[in-house]
Amino acid sequence: MDTNQNLNNTQKKLVGPSSASAYLDPHYWDERFSNEEHYEWLKDYSHFQHLIQAHINPNFSVLELGCGNSQLSEHLYEDGITNITCTDLSAVAVQNKQKRLLSKGLIEIKVMEADMLDLPFSDETFDVIIEKGTMDVLFVDSGDPWNPKPSTVTKVMKMLKGVHRVLKPNGIFISISFGQPHLRRPLYNAPEFTWSFEWKTFGDGFHYFFYTLKKGNRSLEGNEGSKRLEQPSI
Ligand SMILES: C[S@@+](CC[C@H](N)C(=O)[O-])C[C@H]1O[C@@H](n2cnc3c(N)ncnc32)[C@H](O)[C@@H]1O
Repeated sequence: MDTNQNLNNTQKKLVGPSSASAYLDPHYWDERFSNEEHYEWLKDYSHFQHLIQAHINPNFSVLELGCGNSQLSEHLYEDGITNITCTDLSAVAVQNKQKRLLSKGLIEIKVMEADMLDLPFSDETFDVIIEKGTMDVLFVDSGDPWNPKPSTVTKVMKMLKGVHRVLKPNGIFISISFGQPHLRRPLYNAPEFTWSFEWKTFGDGFHYFFYTLKKGNRSLEGNEGSKRLEQPSI
C-alpha cells in the first residue's frame, strides 16, 4: 500500500469533517457511516435512561429521527418498547443498522431512509418521537445563535411542523440536544404548536439538554409556556 493510500485510510477514520457545514451534506454522513460502526453523539442511553423512562411505556409507538449508528433503539427495546421505527437520511446508516439489528435478532425494529424535513408518515402516527443530536445538525451554519439565519429557521420550523403533525394527540417529542433553552424556546414555542415545553439537563461537567414537548398540552398562562423541572439525581 502506498503512502497516499495510507493517508486516505487515516483520513477516513477521522471523526470530524473539515468544516461544520459538512454535517448538512448527506455525502458526509454516507462516507462516515461506511467507516464507522458505532458512535453515540452527546451521551449514551445510560445517562438519560431515567429521563426517557418517565415518558414512555411498552405500548407506545416510537419514531427515532437521524438514528445514525447509535444504539438508542436497541436500549429502548431492552426496556420493553418494541414498536420502534428508526429513520435516517443516510442510506448507508440505514443499511448498516438493518444488518446490525438482524444480527441481534431484533427484527421488530423498523429502519427506513427518511428526511426529517419531509416525514413520510400520516398525521398522528406516533406516541413518541425522539431525536438525539439530529436537530442540532440544522444549526451548524446558523450564524449568530441568538439570531439564526432565516434559512436555518425555515429548516428547523419545517422539521418541527412535521414532528408536530405525525405525533398523536398527547404524543411527546423528546429532543436531546446541545442547544440551550433560551435559544431553542422561541422555536419550540412558535404559535402554530400546541405542545408544552419542559426541559432538564444531564451529564457531568458539560450539561446536555433533554426537552419534552407534549402535544396539546400548551399552557395558556403567559406566553413563555416553558418550565424547568426539578432534576432527579442519576
Ligand atoms: C449528529 S448525528 C446523531 C446520530 C444519532 N442520533 C446519535 O445520537 O448518535 C446526526 C444524524 O442525523 C442524520 N441526518 C442529518 N440530516 C438529516 C435529515 N435531514 N433527516 C434525517 N436524518 C438526518 C445523519 O445522517 C446522522 O445520522
